[in-house]
Amino acid sequence: MKDSMTNETSRPNRSGKPAGKPRFQGQSHGQNKPRGEHGGKPHFRNDKPNTNHRRMRAEPEEKFIRRAIPEIDTPFTRMGIDPRVAINLEGLGIETPSPIQEKSIPGIVAGRDLLGLAQTGTGKTAAFGLPMLTRLLNIGRKPEPRTCRALILAPTRELATQIAENIDAYAVGTPIRQFRVVGGASINVQVMRMERGVDVLIATPGRLIDLIERGAVDLSQTQYLVLDEADQMLDIGFIHALRRIAKMLPRERQTLLFSATMPKLMEELADSYLTDPLKVAVNPPGQAAAKIEQGVHFVNQGDKATLLAEYLSKHMNELAIVFGRTKHGSEKLSKLLEKWGYKVAAIHGNKSQGQRERALAGFRAGETKVLVATDVAARGIDIPEVAHVYNYDLPNVPENYVHRIGRTARAGRDGRAIAFCAPAEIGELRAIEKAMKAQIPVVGGEVPFEASKMRERGGPAGGRPAAPGGQGARKRPARRPSRAPKSTQRA
Ligand SMILES: Nc1ncnc2c1ncn2[C@@H]1O[C@H](COP(=O)(O)OP(=O)(O)OP(=O)(O)O)[C@@H](O)[C@H]1O
Ligand SMILES: [Mg+2]
Repeated sequence: MKDSMTNETSRPNRSGKPAGKPRFQGQSHGQNKPRGEHGGKPHFRNDKPNTNHRRMRAEPEEKFIRRAIPEIDTPFTRMGIDPRVAINLEGLGIETPSPIQEKSIPGIVAGRDLLGLAQTGTGKTAAFGLPMLTRLLNIGRKPEPRTCRALILAPTRELATQIAENIDAYAVGTPIRQFRVVGGASINVQVMRMERGVDVLIATPGRLIDLIERGAVDLSQTQYLVLDEADQMLDIGFIHALRRIAKMLPRERQTLLFSATMPKLMEELADSYLTDPLKVAVNPPGQAAAKIEQGVHFVNQGDKATLLAEYLSKHMNELAIVFGRTKHGSEKLSKLLEKWGYKVAAIHGNKSQGQRERALAGFRAGETKVLVATDVAARGIDIPEVAHVYNYDLPNVPENYVHRIGRTARAGRDGRAIAFCAPAEIGELRAIEKAMKAQIPVVGGEVPFEASKMRERGGPAGGRPAAPGGQGARKRPARRPSRAPKSTQRA
């Protein structure tokens, strides 16, 4: 509970990240080494260590920080990342920039707005976090009460927490502080902490608006705005909150939008938040991460639980996330799996924040092997050990399929994703394949007539329009992005 309120004080020491973390292709040297092991101790500009501790203590903080800028040369410093940030990366296993980092960091350091699209698990957090910290380090003044210099918005509490932990890890040894404000934690504690102002505020939109309404947060000095999972932040569930927030931000600011998916209509809306942006796409947007072995298993709804148990029992010791559509259904499924002897936890909107945090923590630690989740865990969550994703129910937002399966195969690892498709879900399957512009191979079950027709035609990948809702296909809810009002549109 404590961490959900005063997280800004508890910096995780991430330098001892678990061993065995694979690197992005092309990385050439070891990881998990103590800082400085590779190529000796880090060099500091002032070669002679200052042994006069009394003098050091008496010196103003500002001076001490300036003297301690490490003299290092890494691929990140060469792209303009401040050495005080870059020095933390080797200990986090981040040594060679991933493609999205390579493509976006120089532009962000130079102050450009940016739309960055890259597959799941390819390091988008560092792609915005590192250059943002670099720019913040050059300000050199404390933030004023209730203000924040940078605002990062994310769709879920868990993702906001994870981003906060990442920012902490990148910022070790710098004066930059982050604070996370999410629902489910005491608002009074958040109001009190904001009294002092903060460098980086990481928030879910709903709680941020509550705080603004109480006069606890003032965004008039926020020079950086990041929307992680930008297409979701611009979608119907968040756009109203986002518009209200955007109105309070200065027009002169740097805005960074990142996601693994960006439907065309959404991109037009995204443009209204950006000024002369760089647009960086590592692959055609909307594709699944390269190393996910995907499959679809056709099965009757009533047989899904037994089928899931069969799959799970083949990989008892590996971590698996099972996505259900509804809170109730996911809860029921987790109870059933528990009865069948699986070590399982559930995460969805009907759980208390404490339960959600405990479920995720137990799963991260490998104490529970199966996590049953709704789309609350579809985006951004980074648990490198997840080896399997089961789409027990297909998502009704097609892009979420790519995000859900992206919980596996992170940072160059392998992963497996099986979609269970009931006869009533052919429409969803078609929409997913159309959004990905790819067919998911059939790995089991009897291909229903509708699906086989679609496949014969070459499916959505063949570029033909999918026939409207066929036999038994459930109608998907219309999903159209609403536009930003003129007031939030930036010239
Ligand atoms: N350059 C790098 N080299 C090795 N590992 C990296 C690098 N950059 C990031 N990582 C690691 O890759 C993992 C995935 O990073 P991150 O969560 O930022 O991905 P993402 O692109 O935001 O994915 P998603 O679309 O699912 O949100 C993290 O564990 C991170 O520490
Ligand atoms: Mg991410």
